[in-house]
Amino acid sequence: MAAIDQGTTSTRAMIFDHAGRVVGVEQIEHEQIFPRAGWVEHDAAEIWRNTRRAGAAALASAELTAADIAACGITNQRETTVIWDRETGRPVHNAIVWQDTRTNELCAELAGDAGVDRYRDRTGLPLSTYFAGPKIRWLLDHVDGLRDKAEAGQLCFGTMDSWLAWNMTGGVDGGVHVTDVTNASRTMLMNLHTLDWDEEICAEMGIPMSMLPEIRSSSGHFGYLRGQGPLPGVPLSGILGDQQAATFGQACLAPGEAKNTYGTGNFLLLNTGTEPVFSDHGLLTTVCYRIGDQPARYALEGSIAVTGSLIQWLRDNLGIIRTAAEVEELAAGVDDNGGAYFVPAFSGLFAPRWRSDARGVIVGLTRFVNKGHLARAALEASAFQTREVIEAMQADSGMELSTLKVDGGMVVNELLMQFQADILDVPVVRPVVNETTALGAAYAAGLAVGYWEGEDEIRANWAEDKRWNPAMDPGERERLYREWNRAVEHSFDLA
Ligand code: G3P
Repeated sequence: MAAIDQGTTSTRAMIFDHAGRVVGVEQIEHEQIFPRAGWVEHDAAEIWRNTRRAGAAALASAELTAADIAACGITNQRETTVIWDRETGRPVHNAIVWQDTRTNELCAELAGDAGVDRYRDRTGLPLSTYFAGPKIRWLLDHVDGLRDKAEAGQLCFGTMDSWLAWNMTGGVDGGVHVTDVTNASRTMLMNLHTLDWDEEICAEMGIPMSMLPEIRSSSGHFGYLRGQGPLPGVPLSGILGDQQAATFGQACLAPGEAKNTYGTGNFLLLNTGTEPVFSDHGLLTTVCYRIGDQPARYALEGSIAVTGSLIQWLRDNLGIIRTAAEVEELAAGVDDNGGAYFVPAFSGLFAPRWRSDARGVIVGLTRFVNKGHLARAALEASAFQTREVIEAMQADSGMELSTLKVDGGMVVNELLMQFQADILDVPVVRPVVNETTALGAAYAAGLAVGYWEGEDEIRANWAEDKRWNPAMDPGERERLYREWNRAVEHSFDLA
C-alpha cells in the first residue's frame, strides 16, 4: 500500500505492508518562500516534481514495482491554496500556505458586524487567515486577470490533495478535480451539515463555484494513476487532510479518542462521532473522516500554528543549533527554563485564542539566561500550548483525557515528552509506528480496495512503543502554567 504525505516542509512517499509497517520511504524538502513578513508561499510545480521523485524512490527502496501496489492514498498539509489553469495545467501563482497572514484585513472585513463567528454554525471555523476561502479571494483580487478567468471557468482551485490528485490522474489529459470531506472542511466554503459547498458563503466571499473541486468521501475510488506520475496504473483510493489522517492512523476511531501531532505546528483532534460538536472555547469543528457511504465522523480540533517550526527557526534564523535534534541536548544542559518563556506567535495565535494580530515574544530575560534556557523555553512552548487546547477540549466535550496519544517529528524528544506529561498531569503515549499520517492515508486507500477489511484490523495494528508518566510537583506545574499565561499576554503588545 502506498501513501503520499505532502507536508508543509517536505513531501514523503511511503510504502506499508499489511501489518502497517513501513517497507519503503523517501522524503524530499521543498523551498519555503517568504516574500514579506507574515507571508509564506510554496511552488506547487516543485511539489509535484518532488512527489514524482519521492514516489519512484520509495518504490525502489522497497524493491517493488507499481504492479505490487494495491492502491495509493494522499494526505496533505491542509488549507494551503493552489489555483491552476485547467488548460495549461500551470499554477497561476505560488501556493499560499496555511501559515500565511496576508488575509488578516480581508478576514476582518468579512467578519464585519457579525464578528469572526459569522460562518461558524455552517463551517465550524472562525474567520481567520488560516483557512483557504479568504486565500482564494485574495488571489482573485490581486493577480491580474484572474477573476475574469475564474468567472469564465478556466481555473481550478485546490488544496494540495486536489493539485496532486489532478496531476497524478492525468493533469490536462483527463485528471480528476476532486477533494475529500476533510480537506473541504478547511476551506470555510463547505457546509458541515450537507458536506457540500455552501453557495451563499461562496457568493459572499466572491468565489465562483466553477473553480471548486468535487467533494468525495475520504475512502473510495478517485481514479487511476497515470504514466506521468509515480505508480502508473495504481488506483487512487484515499484522500485525507494530514491531521485527520494521523487521527485515523492512530486508530482514534471511537468518540472520545484523541491524538496530538507534533509537526511544524501541533494539531490535537478528538473524534466526536457522527454529529459535529460546536466549540465555545476556541476549537474548530471539522470532518474527521468519511469511509465510503458511511456517515461522516467529526472531530474537535485544537490547531497550534508554531511548535516544530520554532525549532527550525532556532536553527535557521538564530543559528543556536545546527540540527533540529540538537535542541534536546542543548535544553538538557540546563535544569529549567531559567525564568524565560517563548511565545511563538509567528502566524498570530491559533487555538484557543485566534489572534491573527499577535506576534512572537520572549519574556523573563536576565543576564542568567543562556541558549540552553532558550532551547528549553522553545520546547516548553509546545507543551504549554498543548495544555491550552486540551483544557478547551475538555470544557467543550465534557470528556476527561486519560492518556494522550502522540506522533510526529518532535515525539522523539524525550525531554519534551516528559515535560508534556508533567504539565498536563496525564500520561503521554507514543505508538510503534510513528508515521501515523501516511499510515492513515494508506488505511483509507486500503479499506476502499479491500486490502484491509475494516476498522478492527486498524486497531489491531496499533501498538504502544513508549509511555511517559507525570512526575512533576502540582505546585510547580501550576506556577509554570501561570507564568506561561502571563507571557502570552505580551504577544498582544504590538497589536
Ligand atoms: O493545518 C495545517 C496542517 O495540516 C499542516 O501540517 O504536518 O504539514 O505541518 P504539517
